[in-house]
Formats: sequence, structure tokens, C-alpha cells
Amino acid sequence: MLYRTLLLNLFYKNIKFLRMKIDYKKYPLPKRLRHHTKPNFYFKFSEIKELPEYYPPIYKKFNWNEIYSNSMPPDFLDIGCGKGTFLLNMAEIYPQKNLLGIEIRKTLVDWLNNFIKGENIQNCYALWYSVVNGLKFIENQSIEKIFYLFPDPWTKRKHIKRRAFDEDFLNEIYRILKPDGQFFLASDIKEIDDYHRKLIENTSLFNFQVITNDDQWQFPATNKEMFCRKENIEFYRLICSKKL
Ligand SMILES: C[S@@+](CC[C@H](N)C(=O)[O-])C[C@H]1O[C@@H](n2cnc3c(N)ncnc32)[C@H](O)[C@@H]1O
Repeated sequence: MLYRTLLLNLFYKNIKFLRMKIDYKKYPLPKRLRHHTKPNFYFKFSEIKELPEYYPPIYKKFNWNEIYSNSMPPDFLDIGCGKGTFLLNMAEIYPQKNLLGIEIRKTLVDWLNNFIKGENIQNCYALWYSVVNGLKFIENQSIEKIFYLFPDPWTKRKHIKRRAFDEDFLNEIYRILKPDGQFFLASDIKEIDDYHRKLIENTSLFNFQVITNDDQWQFPATNKEMFCRKENIEFYRLICSKKL
């Protein structure tokens, strides 16, 4: 009972961050929203023998001046931004920072960009992209904060190949983060949290801090985090900083 009360308190504490009210009547979420998209989208472009139709585009470079009103590159990345509550709230909390959400499900990306355009949010953009293909379009040492929150768990052994989080991914995160940049991770699956920690330790690129209370994590809740808090599901968080 005490544990439940504690969790509920934490939930309401986080609610204060939920500033942006999304009017779902004006911006109805896509119908028949599937949890996953086509299986091949989770594999690297280079590993697929036959490129599936509508594979998310591969980008080498962006003209950021076509994306953000201040013509500057992104400052924060939200990888696997999903329905984007976190992304949109971060854009409101940090109006001086450019936010880039990366998401593999095109229907959600289209919905997010329609909302961003409709509400004239100048510092936020959602990109339809599969992050397994790296982040070549992001300059070296240019990003302040990268969020990888509640990624798809792919816990089955036969599905491990679909996890984006591997050595290549960590090398990319290291390359694009500023020297004092931070990489934030969350998962509600213990096995996935262990997997993240193990790989981080093996690559020796980052130091990490295990988050044990909300005061160490001053960010709005993601859609999945809100779900976990509501259902009393435990989750695990890490903050990584670059080893220099
Ligand atoms: C469990 S949801 C979490 C969404 C959000 N971060 C949250 O916490 O509410 C994981 C998201 O990652 C996206 N995703 C999975 N694999 C991806 C990939 N390879 N590239 C980009 N997005 C991916 C999924 O489509 C999904 O929206």
C-alpha cells in the first residue's frame, strides 16, 4: 500500500511537467495504430537482401534551416519518440533548443508533424527513420542530450537482431554527443536494462549513473512512463556521460 502511494505521488509529481494539452479532437491519433511496423524496418539497410517497399529513407545530410526556424541543428534527440508527449513537452520547456524525434512508424511521424505545424511549434520536428542505420546525418559532437526511453524490448531470442541498441549504436551516440553531453536510458524490462548496462560496460565509452529517485531525473514523463506509473510497473533508468 505504501509502495503504491509512493508511486502515485511520483506520478502526480511528474504531472506538473505535462504542460502541453493536446486536443485529440483537433488532432485525432491515427486509427488502427499498430505497435510494430514491417519486420524488415528493424534491420539495417545494408543487411537486407531485398529492400522492402516503403523502407524508411536513409539520410546523409540535412539542411537544418529547412527544418528549424533558427536554422540551427538539433540539440536534443528523442529516439523512438512514439506518440511524442515527451518530445512536445520538451520542446515547450526548452524553447531555445531544437528537438528531433526519430520514429520508425510513419503514421505517428505524420501525426506529430501535423500537430507541430498546426500549433506552429518552431523548435521541434519528427523524422521517419529507422535508427538501426546509424545517425550519419548528425554532426560529430553536436548533441547535448539524447533520450532512448522505453525502446521496443524485443525480448525473444529470435528477435534480438531487431534491437537497435548494439555496439554500432553506442559508437554513434558517442560520436554525436558533445563532450559534456548526456545519454538517457529507460526501460520497464529488467532484462533490457541489464543488457544496456552490460553493453555500455563492454564498450567502455560511457560512465553511467543508475537513477534511484525522481529528483535525479528532471524531465517530463513519456507516454510509456505514464502507463508504467498508472499500472504500478517498475522501470529502470540510467544517465550516461562520455568517458573522455
Ligand atoms: C515502447 S515505444 C516508447 C515510445 C516513447 N519513447 C515512450 O516512452 O512513450 C518504442 C518506440 O520506438 C520506436 N522504434 C522501435 N524501433 C525503432 C527504430 N529502429 N528506429 C526508430 N524508432 C524505433 C517504436 O515504433 C515505438 O514508437
